[in-house]
Amino acid sequence: MERMLNVALPKGRLGEKVYKMFKEAGFECPSIEEENRKLIFENEKLGVRYFWAKPSDVAIYVERGAADIGVAGKDILLEYEPDIYEMLDLNMGKCRMCVAGKKDFYDDRNKTLRVATKFSNIAGNYYNSLGRDIDIIHLNGSIEIAPILDLSDVIVDLVETGTTLKENNLEVIETIVPISARLIVNKVSYEFKKAEIQKVVEGLSRQVKRND
Ligand code: PRP
Repeated sequence: MERMLNVALPKGRLGEKVYKMFKEAGFECPSIEEENRKLIFENEKLGVRYFWAKPSDVAIYVERGAADIGVAGKDILLEYEPDIYEMLDLNMGKCRMCVAGKKDFYDDRNKTLRVATKFSNIAGNYYNSLGRDIDIIHLNGSIEIAPILDLSDVIVDLVETGTTLKENNLEVIETIVPISARLIVNKVSYEFKKAEIQKVVEGLSRQVKRND
């Protein structure tokens, strides 16, 4: 088995912060800090390879073993339920999964609730636990316009600062679950690359505790 530790990082600001934490944990890779559009970077001497993945795809790479470890939002883990180990809450990328609607929204429980969302599984599980009948309208983005155009009664979506809701005259009706970035590990890799992976987990968790 290849000894290189493959790390899937979410492309974007969060991923850059996460790389800095890996660097401090002893897994530096100078080429990743160069200004270019490459997606894969290697430090052969340390035996680590990083790649930038679309944030919502990181869990797929890790579940299938193309990456040994990666960083994914709890929203993605709850939505797709990948078969991976969730090792550490990085306490970053914090937001919450919410039900939101128009300010004058009134929930008529005799009617099927129309819910627009990118997170159909999370929304389905949530309303199932309440015993509420819903019609899920799966969208891929800009969810906030659905209730405005009467495509849906409510939305289930991520809220960070609340600005998007506010500027579209919507408000939070209920918080479903708090969300943050998690370190995830492939189950087979954890057996075969335990020492390296534990070094990452310890190095990152030290920093998480320090920043707390
Ligand atoms: C997310 C989310 C909200 C917004 C919330 O969208 O879907 O639209 O951020 O952030 P705020 O509370 O700070 O305003 P994202 O930028 O990921 O785009 P998309 O969901 O429309 O693809």
